[in-house]
Amino acid sequence: MASKTSYPKEKIRAVLLEGVHPAGAALLRDEGFQVETLAGAPDEAKLIALVEKAHLLGVRSRTQVTPRVLEAARNLLAVGCFCIGTDQVDLGVAGRRGVPVFNSPFSNTRSVAELTIAEIIALHRRLVDKSTQMHAGVWDKSAAGAHEVRGRTLGIVGYGHIGSQVSVLAEALGMRVIYHDVLSKMPLGNARQVKSLGDLLRDADVVTLHVPASASTRGMIGAAQIKKMKPGSYLVNNSRGGVVQIDALAAALREERLGGAALDVFPVEPAGKGEGFESEVRGLANVILTPHVGGSTEEAQAAIAEDACTKLIRFVNVGTTTGAVNVPEVELPAQDREGDGGRAHRILHFHQNVPGVLSKMHALIAGLGVNINAEYLRTRDDVGYVVLDVDPTNGREVLERLRSIPETIRARLLW
Ligand code: NAI
Repeated sequence: MASKTSYPKEKIRAVLLEGVHPAGAALLRDEGFQVETLAGAPDEAKLIALVEKAHLLGVRSRTQVTPRVLEAARNLLAVGCFCIGTDQVDLGVAGRRGVPVFNSPFSNTRSVAELTIAEIIALHRRLVDKSTQMHAGVWDKSAAGAHEVRGRTLGIVGYGHIGSQVSVLAEALGMRVIYHDVLSKMPLGNARQVKSLGDLLRDADVVTLHVPASASTRGMIGAAQIKKMKPGSYLVNNSRGGVVQIDALAAALREERLGGAALDVFPVEPAGKGEGFESEVRGLANVILTPHVGGSTEEAQAAIAEDACTKLIRFVNVGTTTGAVNVPEVELPAQDREGDGGRAHRILHFHQNVPGVLSKMHALIAGLGVNINAEYLRTRDDVGYVVLDVDPTNGREVLERLRSIPETIRARLLW
C-alpha cells in the first residue's frame, strides 16, 4: 500500500508463532515490516519477552494470549489468529486496550467442500471398507452396495460458505441438490431450497451438515431426524461435533438403517496428537472417520496466512478493522491524498464507549481551527472506534490533545 504511516514501516515489528505459513511473513516483509517467525507456541514468560517490542502478533490455536501478555505488549497494534477460533486470546482485554484481533474464518471453505465430495463418493462405493479388506488380504470383487452418485439427491443442511461450495461441486457430478437453511438463500445452479429439515431428510440419498455450532443446531440430528432419513442413506458431518447425537447415529448404523456415515468432528475430541480417540462409531461398517482435518490443507494454510496478514496490513496502513472480532468494525477508504500534497491526516481513536467523548473530540479539534473532512464511528460493547480525516495541520498536536481526553484508550496518526 502506498500511503505512509506515522510510524516508519521498517520499524514495525511482527512476531509470527506456531509455524504460520511462510506466505504470511512474505506479505509482511513485502510491506517493509520486520518479521520474526517461530515454530512453536511459547509459554507465557517467553511470549511476554517476545511481544514486548512487537507491533503485530500472529498466533495459531495453541498460543495463549493472556491479559499479562497483552499488558506487557505496550506497542502492540493488532493480533492475527491464523485459524478460525479466537478463544486463545483474551478478546475483552485486547479490545479494551484498543488492540483488534483478526482471524480467518473462510479461508479453508474449499478444503472442507472437497473433503465432503470425496466422502460422498467414497460412501456410495464403500471405498474404505473395500480398502480395509484389501489391506487384510481379502479380494471381494462385487458390485453389491456400490452406487454412482450421478442422479442421486444430496441434501445440504446450512447453505453458507461451505454448503454452497458443496452444492456447486455436487451438481458438476450430476447430483440433484436440495438444501435447508434458516435463512432464505439464493440457490446456485439448479439447487433448490426446501421448506423444512424434515422435507430434506425425507428426500435426500445423502445428507451433509454445514451449520455452525449454536443453540439451534445442538443435537439437531438425533433419533427422530435419523428415522426420517431414507433407509440406506448416508450422513456426512464435517461441521461441529455437537450437531449430531452420536449415540443415535451409532445405533442407526449398527441396525443398518443408514448405509454409512463420514464424520470429521465429534462431541468429544482428543486434546492432542498422543491422546486416544474413543467413540461409539469406531469399528462400524462403511463409516469414514477423520480427525477434524476438513479444513486442514496446505492451500488453506497459505490462504489463511494471506487473509490474516492482509487484515493486519490494512489496519496498520489504513486503520480498517473489518474482520476484527473484538472491536468495532470500520471499513475505510484509502486516504484522499490528492490536492493536499499528501499531507492530510487520519486519526485513529479507540475510546471508552461512554456519552460525550465525540463532542470532546470535536471541541478540541475545532479549538485548533482544524477542519474535519470525514468521520467514521462504530461502537461495540464498551469500546468505540472513531476515525477522523482532518485537514493538513499540526497532526502531532491534535494527537496529543486527543490523548489527553480521559476516555481515550489509544490514538494513532496516519498521514
Ligand atoms: P457459514 O456461517 O458460512 O454457513 C452456515 C450456514 O448455516 C448459514 O447459511 C446459516 O444461515 C445456516 N444455519 C445456521 N443455523 C441453522 C439451522 N439451525 N438450520 C439450518 N441452517 C442453519 O459457515 P461455514 O463457513 O459454511 O461453516 C459451516 C460449519 O463448518 C461451521 O460449523 C464451521 O465451524 C465448520 N467448519 C469445519 C471445519 C472442519 O475442519 N471440519 C473447517 C471449517 C469450518
